[in-house]
Amino acid sequence: MRRLLAANWKMHLYPEEAISLLQEIRSLWERNGWQTLPTVIFPPILYLREAVSLLRGMTLAVGAQNGYPGEFGAFTGEVSMAQIAACGAKWVLVGHSERRYYFGESHELLQQKLKDAQRRGLSVIYCVGETLSQREAGQTFDVLSQQIEEVLQGEILWEKLAIAYEPVWAIGTGVHATPAQAQEAHAFIRSLLQAKGAPAASMPILYGGSLKPENASEIFSQADVDGGLVGGASLKSESFAAIAACLIAGKDHTQLAGSRDPQSEAPLESEHSAH
Ligand code: PGA
Repeated sequence: MRRLLAANWKMHLYPEEAISLLQEIRSLWERNGWQTLPTVIFPPILYLREAVSLLRGMTLAVGAQNGYPGEFGAFTGEVSMAQIAACGAKWVLVGHSERRYYFGESHELLQQKLKDAQRRGLSVIYCVGETLSQREAGQTFDVLSQQIEEVLQGEILWEKLAIAYEPVWAIGTGVHATPAQAQEAHAFIRSLLQAKGAPAASMPILYGGSLKPENASEIFSQADVDGGLVGGASLKSESFAAIAACLIAGKDHTQLAGSRDPQSEAPLESEHSAH
């Protein structure tokens, strides 16, 4: 199952707002019977334990937006991957462009974070994406290759990995990638994973960057877009649920369109001649 939806709340919401949003999401998922839609909420780390206990028993998992490799240590202000896992979280984001560009996280550190997270039992959404100037200079594929090659090296647990393609120029800008741009990048990322020996056909590759109910259906309709990493639109339960509905409808439709039902593949003539 490649479908996956994730909410990245970033540095937003006061405690009582976070709790209400979690309760609303929980009841929407229950009411709509979306138990089969794998969904991950990435709240600010302060709300991690509360989120884990509120969403217990659901397919809604909880993740941390960031984590530091290791267990314990003199790293003031950091929270370790081991501590995150011990609090009941199942996922962590690694390589988000806001971490790369505002906090200067290197590929070496990202690789350490990714591997340590997996070693502690966490699944990782590894984010990649080009800036506007890189796209305009025709470097998109080079940047994506480098972000994949330099971080996904050595012992990677592929079954504990999803990729998010998040063009930096689309994050929080209201400008989203066109469905064709998203598909082109996703197919390229999948081919890179395949070349590395990963089970690329079963790995979720999510799109992120100004995803909204208005554009989600057309982006999710692309063959290699398996879901979304939603920022701004995940801060309201209605818009996050509307995006979830697009993913469910879109992928069900895609599955139907691409389904190989031997009955329906029989040539018309032979169907007629059989009667
Ligand atoms: P956005 O953020 O949906 O607000 O553009 C996406 C992200 O940064 O993960």
